[in-house]
Amino acid sequence: MPKDVRLWGGRFSEAPHETFAEFNDSFRFDRRLFAADVRVSIAHANGLRRAVVLTNDEADMIVGGLTQLLIDAENASDFFESEAEDVHTFIEAKLIEAIGETGRKLHTGRSRNDQVATTLRLWLRDEIESTAGLIKDLQAALIDIAEGYRDAVMPGYTHLQRAQPILFAHWCLAYFEMLKRDRERLGEVFTRVNVLPLGSGALAGTGFLIDREAIAAELGFGSVTANSLDAVSDRDFAVEFTAIASLVMMHLSRLAEDLIIYASTEFGFVTLKDAVSSGSSLMPQKKNPDALELLRGKAGRVFGHNIALLTMLKGLPLAYNKDMQEDKEALFDTVDTVKISLRAAAIMVENIVVNEAAAMDAATSGYLNATDLADHLVRKGVAFRTAHEAVGRAVLYAIDEGKELSDLTVDELREFAAEAGDDVREAIGIGASLASKAVVGGTSPERVAEALSAAREHLKN
Ligand code: ARG
Repeated sequence: MPKDVRLWGGRFSEAPHETFAEFNDSFRFDRRLFAADVRVSIAHANGLRRAVVLTNDEADMIVGGLTQLLIDAENASDFFESEAEDVHTFIEAKLIEAIGETGRKLHTGRSRNDQVATTLRLWLRDEIESTAGLIKDLQAALIDIAEGYRDAVMPGYTHLQRAQPILFAHWCLAYFEMLKRDRERLGEVFTRVNVLPLGSGALAGTGFLIDREAIAAELGFGSVTANSLDAVSDRDFAVEFTAIASLVMMHLSRLAEDLIIYASTEFGFVTLKDAVSSGSSLMPQKKNPDALELLRGKAGRVFGHNIALLTMLKGLPLAYNKDMQEDKEALFDTVDTVKISLRAAAIMVENIVVNEAAAMDAATSGYLNATDLADHLVRKGVAFRTAHEAVGRAVLYAIDEGKELSDLTVDELREFAAEAGDDVREAIGIGASLASKAVVGGTSPERVAEALSAAREHLKN
């Protein structure tokens, strides 16, 4: 590579070694920041204009040249063919090529260190917003399917053993809540991302008195960083974003795992439509939940990016070190993975059919109403521990008889607890079981209906 491609070439008398360049250069991936970096450069040029470091004519030329680059990037297919070291030097070289000598003034009073920190934050801001939008789409899909199967009942599990009956809509709303927290987290990290480092220079602050607040306003940043050393070496926001993305992926993975289990022949609570399923190359009968498995599988790589960033940063002396260039691919892949995963999760939810009869059957067999029987006895004055013990013996008896608790007569039940009321059989029926969970956050039809409308309301924000 000819030496003059390097913008820092003045001090060097040898061209970069080919392998060094391949190892060092980031343009092949950081070109993704092109548009954001041009926006930052335009704002910087305007900052230099306001500080009277550039004349109006010079600033106009630079801003005009940079704006033209945005257009050229759209139109010329070979625009990005370049040996440039990174996106920052690429843009500067392109500008100089386009407008000549004046272009050489753009980098006045800035370093790639404050530039890349600014560009990355600007880029991430948009990605946070689009990610939050996709979370919302998935939440809407969950509410839609919940409303489509308002009355569907299924077993709730602990230890993956049948525990108590719940409404399918209640299960949907559980994932809605997780995603609600994820969206809140994105909103919180946004305010920490939305801080302008430009003006921090290489590490000490720039020697030109640019109005940083004005640049922040021009780029829509909420505030400016307070310490130049911190500003150029801080990637907390990238760690935070990948941590939030990890939580999103963990939630999607659990959703996927639930659906994989429910879609198995053994459970059969849901069927995945053909459009979101795959077949087997060998076994003609198979219909596999590949997309759900990928949702589960992709979580690991996002967790990995989070750990990679923390590990990359932990031993770095202040301020900028080239190690930090490793933030890009971690962040880019995190954004790409979480976004496609959210889209995939939404279509999976949209394309499940709930087998209401099978789910109801599972919810009403296997003694899921044992707690309701104990609760009934408590209402008749029995101490809970005593009731628990009595119902345990009744369950054992029913298992021996090959019956459900609801198959036992009132007299049979009274063998275990004399306090059982005439209304005991009704009290352990599925309707009473669900209706009794009327506490806020419970699975009673009334509470779930309220939660569904609250969820709809929430999605309006
Ligand atoms: N490509 C570099 C990065 O992403 C840009 C900053 C380079 N700064 C430097 N002093 N070499 O981190």
